[in-house]
Amino acid sequence: MKVFIVGFGNIGTNLVRIITEKNNELQQKYGDSFQIIAIADSKGVYKGFKNNEEILEAKLNGRSEEFRIKDIDISKSIADLEYDILVEVTSSTPSGEPGITYVKRAMEKKKHVVTANKSILVQNFDIIDYARKMGVIFKFEATVCGSIPVFNTIDNYYSKAKIKKVSGAFNATSSYIIRMMENGFSFRDALDIAIKEGLTERNYEDDLLGIDSARKALILHNYIFKKRMKMNEIENLAKIEDVKPGMGLISEIEDSKITIKYVEKSEKSKIFDFNGAGMSFTITTDLFNTQTLIVDQDGPWESAAAVYSDLVDILKVRILE
Ligand SMILES: NC(=O)c1ccc[n+]([C@@H]2O[C@H](COP(=O)([O-])OP(=O)(O)OC[C@H]3O[C@@H](n4cnc5c(N)ncnc54)[C@H](OP(=O)(O)O)[C@@H]3O)[C@@H](O)[C@H]2O)c1
Repeated sequence: MKVFIVGFGNIGTNLVRIITEKNNELQQKYGDSFQIIAIADSKGVYKGFKNNEEILEAKLNGRSEEFRIKDIDISKSIADLEYDILVEVTSSTPSGEPGITYVKRAMEKKKHVVTANKSILVQNFDIIDYARKMGVIFKFEATVCGSIPVFNTIDNYYSKAKIKKVSGAFNATSSYIIRMMENGFSFRDALDIAIKEGLTERNYEDDLLGIDSARKALILHNYIFKKRMKMNEIENLAKIEDVKPGMGLISEIEDSKITIKYVEKSEKSKIFDFNGAGMSFTITTDLFNTQTLIVDQDGPWESAAAVYSDLVDILKVRILE
């Protein structure tokens, strides 16, 4: 299947690596694989590479400019190029743009879409219905809790139950920084390392002040309870003074309420039972009692793996058609 990736940062680059590594295995298993036909970032569109390996090698060696097409409009490319799936992995923004426009343009052209960009769903949750109306598959597993299969489990296993409450540690950056501080690093040094490893949002305050957690909680809430809650209705009590050893950032989601706050980790030992840049997702239902999914490490590679998983799910559906 032909793939157009918009966003060539941490997630985009790791996704190209994963596709390159897994394509043979995929081909053997399903008789099809992914051909990246173009990639775009804020500087333009990259095209004309022989294969996935060539653009990956160029990116890793700082030579991707060789493939950049000058004066080409990304929205127009999304509408005009020949491909099957658009992967939208540009930076999250307060307005959700240009991600929303890119995704809608692709859907209008009957392309399936996969995204990791939370701001699209935060600002325009109805885009899920728009995909249905356009008759395309829209997947967004990586938007919440990176590589923990939140939507996959909600849609499959938990679809038989009534979900009462969801909570968890949704922000790996704050967990990582606090763990580094517990290991003797200063706040500043821990933050610098997190930025270098691509763990933080472009604006790291989004991670530490609970905004990134609030975005994820909002998406989950609206998805599970079929509501249209807004960011300003969330009770966000996270404060920078609480970023200190022993603390953890927790999100709690119920039908009528979302709360984000730092708590003593010892009070919620199951939720914080991971090392470093971990995350957790705890779900309480009427049928299965309370269950927790935990990942010890969540960064760009793990989130790119979730994007890849969405891509493979679309490939499998297409094979069955
Ligand atoms: N990093 C993670 O662990 C993680 C986990 C889950 C979800 N996410 C989400 O996934 C998305 C990508 O994250 P990331 O870490 O890969 O971000 P990133 O490293 O900052 O990369 C963002 C990419 O988007 C490109 N971009 C920005 N504005 C654009 C525009 N107007 N048109 C086209 N391209 C544009 C940037 O171009 P330049 O390279 O030219 O600046 C860059 O290539 C974000 O929405 C983030 O919230 C990230």
